[in-house]
Amino acid sequence: MKAIVQERFGSPDVLQFIDVDQPEIGPDDVLVRVHAAALNPYDWHILRGDPYVARLMGTVGLTRPKPRVAGVDGAGTVQAVGANVRGLRAGDEVLGRFEGAFAEYARAVADLVVPKPARLTFEQAAGVPMAGQTALRAIRDVGRVRAGHRVLVNGAAGGVGSFAVQIAAALGAEVTGVCSTGNVDLVRSIGAAHVVDYTKDDFTDGRVRYDVVQDNVGNHPLRHLRRAVTPTGTLVSNAGGSPGGNLFGPIGAIVRMLAVNAVVRQRLRPLPDTWTREHLIAVTGLVAAGQVTPVVGRTYPLADTATAMRHLEQGHARGKIVVTVG
Ligand SMILES: NC(=O)c1ccc[n+]([C@@H]2O[C@H](COP(=O)([O-])OP(=O)(O)OC[C@H]3O[C@@H](n4cnc5c(N)ncnc54)[C@H](OP(=O)(O)O)[C@@H]3O)[C@@H](O)[C@H]2O)c1
Repeated sequence: MKAIVQERFGSPDVLQFIDVDQPEIGPDDVLVRVHAAALNPYDWHILRGDPYVARLMGTVGLTRPKPRVAGVDGAGTVQAVGANVRGLRAGDEVLGRFEGAFAEYARAVADLVVPKPARLTFEQAAGVPMAGQTALRAIRDVGRVRAGHRVLVNGAAGGVGSFAVQIAAALGAEVTGVCSTGNVDLVRSIGAAHVVDYTKDDFTDGRVRYDVVQDNVGNHPLRHLRRAVTPTGTLVSNAGGSPGGNLFGPIGAIVRMLAVNAVVRQRLRPLPDTWTREHLIAVTGLVAAGQVTPVVGRTYPLADTATAMRHLEQGHARGKIVVTVG
């Protein structure tokens, strides 16, 4: 099968579009014929082994990227199921966390695969898993957003942000999205009552305070971000940094946030990186009900995944960047 393979750490230039063996599945896995896969900053963290400390922690691989076939977000049709798998069978249309999504076939742990809502294309469905469940955890669980809350989403036009805006609006919050001029109409169209164009205004100037600020960019120091949060409000930080030779990445910012959190009334919360079936089901439920619709900014053929990755790394993705597999 055709796949995007990463044999060594580096820029998107090291990604190869080559033939590899089809993956084998274990008793708790499914084999999926991939129709579309979405990119995430997580993918360039793995590809670049960035931050370097993640290599020592074993989370991106020690001497080369782990796994060999890139990509985690996908949508496709189940081809085969392992002996222990219940509730899924060949022919089911699904989305979820795949092991090597940038390929014609991928193995997936059945627990992290859920039915694709019929209203979505495979390209839209591929954009749901990581960004959707991350936004749900940030807004619903960590942010504890309730109806009537004033919520600000920084990076509202991106993968996570475009889900966060919609989820907060679905929960009844009054949402403000922060983006560049070209994305103002998009952010308003997905449910933001107010939009701050960051090329003209600074939401951290202290003039307006929010019950919950959800940051996907990390471009403001903590003391400035706190000016945008009410005295007992919550800051949820989801910013993982930009590509380019980082030793510790966001770890310093996370440590600072937790230290300040211990001595102030505001809740300052870094967002842990976890996956659960419950979150995938919940966000897919919102999508199936029409309360959330994935935003697909650009699509590329599988062979052009490196070009898609270069675009993502520039930090101005509009919604999800998706590769179409076939
Ligand atoms: N903790 C976790 O589990 C987890 C999971 C997923 C992602 N993350 C992290 O969350 C972050 C966001 O991920 P993502 O998938 O949403 O990334 P993304 O899709 O690449 O987001 C890019 C967005 O950032 C916006 N942006 C760039 N500069 C900005 C600025 N100065 N002010 C406001 N917005 C700005 C861009 O909007 P414009 O084009 O309008 O500038 C673009 O829409 C990343 O750091 C990622 O590593 C964490």
